[in-house]
Amino acid sequence: MNSMRRPLIAGNWKMNFGGPEAITLAGGIAKASKELSAVDVVVCPPFTALAAVAAELDGTRVGLGAQNVHPKASGAFTGEVASAMLVAAGCTWVIVGHSERRQFFGDTDAFVADKTSAAFAAHLAPIVCVGETEAEREAGNTLAIIERQLNAVLPVLVAHKGEAMAIAYEPVWAIGTGKAATAADAEEAHAFIRKLLASASEDLAARVRVLYGGSVTGANARELLACPNVDGALVGGASLTLEKFEPILGAAQALTLS
Ligand code: 13P
Repeated sequence: MNSMRRPLIAGNWKMNFGGPEAITLAGGIAKASKELSAVDVVVCPPFTALAAVAAELDGTRVGLGAQNVHPKASGAFTGEVASAMLVAAGCTWVIVGHSERRQFFGDTDAFVADKTSAAFAAHLAPIVCVGETEAEREAGNTLAIIERQLNAVLPVLVAHKGEAMAIAYEPVWAIGTGKAATAADAEEAHAFIRKLLASASEDLAARVRVLYGGSVTGANARELLACPNVDGALVGGASLTLEKFEPILGAAQALTLS
């Protein structure tokens, strides 16, 4: 972490908790976050739980994000949700370009850029995800993949450089595997992302938070978050229970005080 950037810890609940469990978990996280004044906390429930979780989080310091958005404002797109609808449900954040969407739902670099534009247009802060697969890493293409994915969206980020946003580096091989990147590997990728951002805009590079995602736990959060270019975490599995999420929030808060 770097003292210029407040740590951001976001929980991506993926396809879990659509009803009362979502409200209970959100309420628990809000309570646990009350004293964590140095850390920004965001939860990203499934669409069906957004409005109920928004009501639960009202007046707390926990932000609400969605996991996906469609680029168009409205129209005949069965099953899709537009950015203004997310705002109406109480969101201020939205994840775009998650590797699960790229892998299983065909989200291309260009489509991710369009979603990012749509997010900004509705004043939603995008969390833009990038990251290589295991095969791409083994072939020595990690930085080339990150560069391709980031370059596709960079003009959109630069055009909105004063607005809230985050990048998440999520190596696909680390997601849900229990095999997080080492701090050294994470720092290498994050520093590279920072350099790419700086080549387009120094201001943007200085203020954008680059989150690490992929098997973050209470046990490894401190070491990952201590890296100078790691400004927070995008947490999947360990964001699904308060017992597992709270130590990650605690690690971020402790580092800001150290
Ligand atoms: P895990 O923390 O379960 O590895 O998931 C990471 C992720 O994909 C967050 O978006």
